[in-house]
Order: sequence, then C-alpha cells, then structure tokens
Amino acid sequence: MHRLDLTNEEVGMIRTLVEKVASRHGSVEEADFLENATTYAQELPRRLRAFLNTFRLTEPSGVCLVSGYPVDDAKIGRTPPHWRQQPDSASTREVEIFLNLCGALLGDAIAWSHQRGGLICQDLVPIEGHESEMIGSGSELELVWHTEDARYSYRGDYIGLMCLRNPDAVPTTFALIDEVQLDPNQVEVLFEPHFVFRPDPSHPSDNEVEQAPVLFGDPRSPYIRFDPYCMDRPKTEEARSAMDYLIRAIDENLTGVALLPGECLFIDNYKTVHGRSSFKARFDGTDRWLKRINIARDLRKSRAVRKAAAARVIL
Ligand SMILES: [Fe+2]
Repeated sequence: MHRLDLTNEEVGMIRTLVEKVASRHGSVEEADFLENATTYAQELPRRLRAFLNTFRLTEPSGVCLVSGYPVDDAKIGRTPPHWRQQPDSASTREVEIFLNLCGALLGDAIAWSHQRGGLICQDLVPIEGHESEMIGSGSELELVWHTEDARYSYRGDYIGLMCLRNPDAVPTTFALIDEVQLDPNQVEVLFEPHFVFRPDPSHPSDNEVEQAPVLFGDPRSPYIRFDPYCMDRPKTEEARSAMDYLIRAIDENLTGVALLPGECLFIDNYKTVHGRSSFKARFDGTDRWLKRINIARDLRKSRAVRKAAAARVIL
C-alpha cells in the first residue's frame, strides 16, 4: 500500500496548523473554511503534500494511508448513536480539519443534499435498527464492495476516511483494479456502454438510471465504475458473462485494512472498489467511528447541479 508514517516533527507542524485553522473556523462545514482549505493545505509538511500529490497524479495505487496523527480517545467523546447526534461537534473539530486539509490536496470536498443532511464531513457509525441494512450505518450485514455513487457521472474521485475508533479491528475492504488480472476479450466488452446503473440506497429520492461502460480510460490500466447490487442484468449474454467475470475477479482480489485511530485512508474511486466487513455493534459509545469525506478533482463536472461555482452541495 502507498503509505506515509508521519514523524513527530511533522505531527508537531500539523497540530500547529490545525489549531490555527480551528481558531478561525467553528466547523469544516463553513463555506469560508471550504473556500480556504486548499490554501491552508499548502502549509502541511512538504513530505505529506508530495505523498498525496504523487497519489493523485501518478496513481501508484488505488489506496493510500497516512498514519501517525494522534487521536485523543477521551477528548473525542463517545461514539455517537447516530450521525445526526454527536453531542459536542467541537470534540472532533481538529481531526476533521486534518482530514479535510489532506483531502484538499486531492481536490474539493462535495456533498449530496439528500444524503446525511448535506454534510461534507460525515460520521460512519453503526446505528441501532440499521444492523441488517447494507448502508454505511449498518453492521451485521457485510457492506458489499462498490464504486461510491456509481450511478453519477459527477461522483467523487476519492473517498477520505479517518479512523477515530475501531476497537474490534473491523476491516475496510477494497480491491484494486490494477491488481486484477483481466482477460482482454472481457475488458473489451466491459469498455462498451452495455451497463445500466441505478441509484444506491443512499440516494432514495432518485429513480434515474445511467447507461455506461464498467471500465474506461486505458485498457491496460483501466478506471472502474461498478456496483453490481445497483445495476441491471445486461441484456446480452456477452455483457452478462463479462459482468459476472469481473465480479468473480474482484471477489478473488478483495483485501482490506483495519484502520487504527488517527489513520487516514484515501480510496481512489476510479481505481478501487470498497466495502466493509460485517461486525457486531455494541451501541454503548465505544463502537467503530470513522469520519468520511468525498472529494472531486473537478468541481465543474457537477456545476449544473450546484448553486454556485464554489458551492459543494449537489442538489
Ligand atoms: Fe461506499
């Protein structure tokens, strides 16, 4: 995995920067913070900036990990019972700023108006009553691998996850398309626009579909857009068998990482499918708790569905 372990000196620099930003902005949701995030991010340690720039530009891997940022388990408070119910949002402000500044080196954070109240930085926590749902707040059902927001052409390029707490070492799962050995004949079919994408359950208000290829870009190192649970069975036998072939190939290459507190994982949503293993939630304030952001490399792709050039919420 493309990985960076922060040194003590780097952590010191980051904390000084994060504290300065926290003194100016009450929340990472503020428009003023979001407009300045890229500028602040230029003050992160050079080695971290170079690491994320390489990840963005040369695509050395479909995932990268930044490790070593300290999370104070007492200060962040208990894992909230619902993403809407973090009692004191200031308790995680500094870690949210760090995640968002790292993300700003890859692009601009986006949110969906109908998803989790349009929040940019979201809590991934198990919710009581959602145990057997296949969404981010589920637990007992494996969250099957997928491209994030696959139905949308303006979906994010990256997902940023920051781990605050993961006591049962629940893995975040992923498969890198570059590690999947692909038959060129199947690749050819997967490059054709036979495939119908439907909105996943996190977009309940949308019924529109989009027809597109599953693989695109360079056939020797393709980009992927794939969420079999939210796609129609293709009409032709050739496309059906190519789709099944890719599902099997990804299943065989699925791996994962159990994030530790303070670790940030960035997933390239064009090179990697991701999911989460099942787990038994406790609902007692000690459950797995991640913060998540979605990052677009080019905000202009979604300009038709946002209110202003710098607006981040997709309507
Ligand atoms: Fe996801």
